[in-house]
This record gives sequence, C-alpha cells and structure tokens, in this order.
Amino acid sequence: MLTVHAPAKLNLDLRVGATRADGFHPLSSWFVTTSLHDTLTFEPAAKDEFNCDDPSIPTDQRNLVVRAMNLLPHAPVKVALTKRVPAGGGLGGGSSDAAATLKALARLEGVPTAALPPLAEQLGSDVPFFLGGPSALCTGRGEAVDELPLPRARSALLVLPHIHVSTPAVFRAFDALPSPEQLPARGSARESYAKLSQLRAAEALREARNDLEAPAFQLHPELGRLRSEAESRLGRPVRMSGSGSTLFTLYDTLAEAEEAAKLVKNLRVLAVAMCPLD
Ligand code: C5P
Repeated sequence: MLTVHAPAKLNLDLRVGATRADGFHPLSSWFVTTSLHDTLTFEPAAKDEFNCDDPSIPTDQRNLVVRAMNLLPHAPVKVALTKRVPAGGGLGGGSSDAAATLKALARLEGVPTAALPPLAEQLGSDVPFFLGGPSALCTGRGEAVDELPLPRARSALLVLPHIHVSTPAVFRAFDALPSPEQLPARGSARESYAKLSQLRAAEALREARNDLEAPAFQLHPELGRLRSEAESRLGRPVRMSGSGSTLFTLYDTLAEAEEAAKLVKNLRVLAVAMCPLD
C-alpha cells in the first residue's frame, strides 16, 4: 500500500490581470504548501475504486482524483481519500488531491514525472504547483510554475469560515470592477517575491496583497466583516487565500501562531507550518 499526503496551499500574494481571450485570467502569485493536508492511500484491486471519508464530497467524475485516475493508464487500484482540507476554501484541496494521485500512479507504474505537468494542467490551473512545491511563483493562468525561496516566516494562522466560495463567481465579480493594474513581468515578480521571502512575518504581511479579496467580499459581505474582526482581535493584517473563503495571517514561529489562536477562540482557526520539509 502507498500512502501520500496532499497539502493545502496558501497564496501569500495574488495579483490578477484582465480576462484573456480563453476566459481565464492571467495571474502572478506566490504559492506555498502548508502542513494541513489530505491523505490518500493506493492499493492493488480487482477494479478501480475510489472512496472518501467525507460524504459531502462527490466520488464520481466531478472529483479531480477520479479525473486524474482516468488520465493516467494504470493497473486497477483502490484509492481512499481522507479529507481534511475544507472544499471551496481557496486552499487548493481538490487540486492537491489530483496532483498527489498523478504522482502516486506515476510512481506505481514507473511513468517519468516529466510526463505529468501537461496532465496536471488539463485538470486545473492550480494542479501543476502541487506536482512540485513547496514555494513557487505561478503565472499564466496559474500553470507556469517557477521555484521560489522558502519564506522566512514559516507559520500561519488560518481562519476557516463556514462559507463556500465559487471561484468562477469571484472571477466574474472581479471583471465587473474597474480595470485591473498591469501584471508585473515574470522576472520582476520573481525578484519581488524573493525579497518578500526574506522578511519577518509582520513586514511581509504589510506588502502582501490579494486582488480577489474585493470581489469575494462583495459577494460575501460576511467574509469582509470576519476579516475586520480577525484583524482587530489579532492586531495584524489578515489576508485571503486564492478566491476564498480561507483567511490567514503570518507568524515567524508556530508557537506564536498557536498562541494567537487563543485570541480568536470563537472562530474556526488552525495554526499551520508553511513549506514543511517532510
Ligand atoms: O483552472 P480551474 O478549473 O481551477 O479554474 C476554475 C475556474 O476559475 C475557471 O473556470 C475560471 O472561471 C476561473 N479561473 C480564471 N482564471 C484563472 C484560474 C481560474 O478565471 N487563472
């Protein structure tokens, strides 16, 4: 049996440009993995099978694990997913599960990992990041992945609201806002994220931005209110990851993030490590 972890991601910074001809939006974003993860097991079986411990998660073609299994020819396998990363939370849980499936099947079948990026890209814009990680600049629609240094601030406090945000709806709301700024060229994005990676948590937080916050808060005003509440209780900037709904703030150490969690006991929060190296 093969057991693998599928980590959640955070977008420490996310800039979005005007819609492309194919309907996707150009991005420039700093992605990092976290210690929060789903777990997948793979074992030989008489025919393909897929189960998930969370009954609210579909186990048919809508699930990216099933789509990943269909993209890579393999001997029959039973896949079990233990879900811990909230769905619709901007943490890339489904994308990470898909990438973990591609990597596990490639390992079991002796397929070179170089064959995986084009398959990952077909499954979703965030999937290629999860083939590698733990810290990367993602551009294009998210699929062009460039390794970045690890952040100096290696811990985060996640606020996990019970709000399911639709990514396409957030991008549509983004389109209705005034014209976005020009995205930085890849080289200069790399340079500014490399500089950001050297900062302590409090300084890095001041620089970080997510262009999808305004449209997400417009669609879900309670999310904007929650951010304000978290900022005043924690006494530091709080950002949103991806298209939401997860909010986060950064700390230099896990002990500080765990201590801060006590200040927001009324919210669903989780202290996590970023870019864990196991
Ligand atoms: O690539 P993925 O399937 O994860 O994208 C989900 C949806 O999010 C897309 O259909 C599109 O509406 C939106 N999206 C976008 N620009 C991106 C990534 C996603 O508009 N770069």
